[in-house]
Amino acid sequence: MGFETIVVTVKEGIATITLNRAQQLNALNRQMFRELDAAFDQVTVDPEARVVVITGSGDRAFAAGADIREFVGMGPVAALDFSRNAQRIFRKLETMSKPTIAAVNGFALGGGCELMMACDIAYAADTAKMGQPEITLGIIPGAGGTQRLARLVGKQKAKELEMTGDMLTAEEASRIGLVCKVVPAAELMAEVRKLCEKILSKGEVALRMVKEAIEAGSQVDLPSGMEIEAKAWGICFTTEDHVEGVQAFLEKRKPNFKGR
Ligand code: COA
Repeated sequence: MGFETIVVTVKEGIATITLNRAQQLNALNRQMFRELDAAFDQVTVDPEARVVVITGSGDRAFAAGADIREFVGMGPVAALDFSRNAQRIFRKLETMSKPTIAAVNGFALGGGCELMMACDIAYAADTAKMGQPEITLGIIPGAGGTQRLARLVGKQKAKELEMTGDMLTAEEASRIGLVCKVVPAAELMAEVRKLCEKILSKGEVALRMVKEAIEAGSQVDLPSGMEIEAKAWGICFTTEDHVEGVQAFLEKRKPNFKGR
């Protein structure tokens, strides 16, 4: 499928989705939301895409938020629909059956920060800055930001960030658990690739199960989460990969997982 605001490539098991409006700091306009929606469907069903990386074009921004120009003249009903649609698309990413990694190469603000938080793992360039500055526009985050940020960093820090609109440096974001790792900007994509290769060497069913157990388990009480984990653990024991993993350990060699 041809896209204009994003570029999708699939190579050696890694699908890379690059937000491609560098002149506008990769601001997410309606077309980009539509194309991301379609791209998430596309990589979900593509067997060649086993890990998904999302990044921004240029060296300034991952994404500097939703396109503020599109807010001009927007009424409450259109805004409600806009929010629900953005939430739906990012939830599709969050629940995708494949591991997803945000390679945060610059500003991740507003919708950009929300997109980053919908990924499984975020690695950031040391030059990146994150935040939810919507309050400075007289509005609030509408693509999951009030919910995911509070869950990731705690209610108090989320309120501080979303009531002030202040930006965090990558280092600060790492300290509070908003990103996993900070690396020199020039090494970001190489580090992300190393992470992808490590994940690609693992069994696909176990990868799915661990993601599902964490995602579904984080929505429920502890006993229910334990039950989700037990069932996911049981499913791993239906795979050839678990036989291979255990056998490889006993034979003191690297496992060769087949994804089944
Ligand atoms: N929506 C639309 N356009 C945006 C944008 C956004 N969220 N963020 C940046 N841009 C555009 C700017 O309008 C500018 O376009 P122009 O050259 O046609 O004027 C271009 O991207 C470069 O941005 P600029 O503001 O000139 O860069 P800067 O280095 O001075 O500042 C930021 C960078 C990120 C601090 C600043 O662009 C900013 O605050 N952006 C908005 C962030 C935000 O509020 N996001 C939440 C939206 S809900």
